Amino acid sequence: MDIERVQLQMHGDHGGMLIALEQDINVPFVIRRVYYIFATEHDVHRGKHAHRHLRQLAVAVRGSVTILLDDGSGPVEVVLNDPSQGLLMGDMVWRELYDFSEDCVLMVLADHLYDPADYITDYDAFLSEVKGIPYPAGLVACQSV
Ligand code: TYD
Repeated sequence: MDIERVQLQMHGDHGGMLIALEQDINVPFVIRRVYYIFATEHDVHRGKHAHRHLRQLAVAVRGSVTILLDDGSGPVEVVLNDPSQGLLMGDMVWRELYDFSEDCVLMVLADHLYDPADYITDYDAFLSEVKGIPYPAGLVACQSV
């Protein structure tokens, strides 16, 4: 699966901690967009989509969140609860975000501007696309098995 947990270098001194995110240094892509998710209610599930062409680095700069990731071979759960840990996600990975702590601030860096056309929001369509089967033909094929 095109995901990787990364440990971010911390710069500590007597006054606290600092982490720098730098393009091509510890962020392995061109940073075109930064967004952050916060004030998410605990019972809310976000995400539920995949991107065709988007690399992202997610960091829970505060609090915690669980992220389910699936490239078609089955789901993997990752908990982000440490501002020094990042999660790199590549193309064609289905993700769902849940179990947000009340204080969670999830910051995400991305290599493209926001583009609704890059989203796949239907899981069956995602499975078909990731397996190289045109949708809805893939859905029809699955149903006839
Ligand atoms: P969405 O990607 O659906 O968030 P999530 O998957 O976490 O639920 O985005 C929520 C809203 O924010 C939607 O109206 C689109 C908007 N949005 C932007 O305008 N720019 C962005 O970079 C992102 C990620 C979302």
